[in-house]
Amino acid sequence: MHPDLVSALRCPVCGDPLGLTARTASCPRGHSYDLAKQGYLNLLPSASTGIEGDSASMIEARTTFLSTGHYTPILNALRTHTAQRLSELGTASDRELIVEVGAGTGYYLAGVVGDGSERWGLALDVSRYAARRAAKVHPRVGSVICDAWREIPLRDDAAQVILNVFAPRNAEEMARVLAPGGSLLVVTPNQAHLAELVAVLGMVRVDEEKERRLTESLAGSFERTGSEVVETVMRLDHPAVERLVAMTPSARHTEPGELTERIAVLPDPVEVTLSVTLSAWRAA
Ligand SMILES: C[S@@+](CC[C@H](N)C(=O)[O-])C[C@H]1O[C@@H](n2cnc3c(N)ncnc32)[C@H](O)[C@@H]1O
Ligand SMILES: [Zn+2]
Repeated sequence: MHPDLVSALRCPVCGDPLGLTARTASCPRGHSYDLAKQGYLNLLPSASTGIEGDSASMIEARTTFLSTGHYTPILNALRTHTAQRLSELGTASDRELIVEVGAGTGYYLAGVVGDGSERWGLALDVSRYAARRAAKVHPRVGSVICDAWREIPLRDDAAQVILNVFAPRNAEEMARVLAPGGSLLVVTPNQAHLAELVAVLGMVRVDEEKERRLTESLAGSFERTGSEVVETVMRLDHPAVERLVAMTPSARHTEPGELTERIAVLPDPVEVTLSVTLSAWRAA
């Protein structure tokens, strides 16, 4: 990880700034954190909550599914909105930091960071399997393990843009680490998202109250500045459907044998709706 990325981080024990020497990040009070050999930094406090995030097989399935490009429309919307927000912000700086909370494999972050040589990224995730992937996803992206429900180990005002895609949202902490005038871009599924698969495959249904819950969870810390529905029809072959299920929490609720049987009765390829809302927020 690049030392400049580490200097955006703060010590999870005392909150002082971190700096990188050789392969160890440390604060002035002497708390230190070694870079893992796979390149990520683990900043979970030692008395961690036991929360693990996505498993190795979920991350594997997500990596392969995303690489086939079916979610490119979501990535493209994030790229457009990030460019707009950054140009409105008009940073004179030659460095812009984009943080993804619950970054998974870092697919979206890498795409957005890749659009400008002044852009740098930090991928935050509680899963070590995700962190390993994200550490290699782009030369200007650093990967950090942390629990986004607790304190985010970033300095105040560190990020110009925060991405949050199908991931946990800690409004107060995201507002703290966002620079003045910076933007939070949130992607949430709509009810039509993957609807053709939900009933047949026993996947977890999109919560009808999701929109209201999103607004409530961010209200107080953020105000909405815009939103866009991203919708298209994907043509998925059976292996793609299998990966799509395997990368979601539904994977934990369905027996593998049963899943294969249910997929077998679907048309091949099957048409599946992608429908998400990208909403943009500014700290209130
Ligand atoms: C549905 S995945 C989305 C990943 C990525 N944004 C994407 O769309 O490809 C949710 C991610 O949030 C992570 N996660 C879950 N709980 C978390 C927490 N408390 N703190 C940080 N990350 C968490 C999971 O490990 C997982 O990688
Ligand atoms: Zn410290």
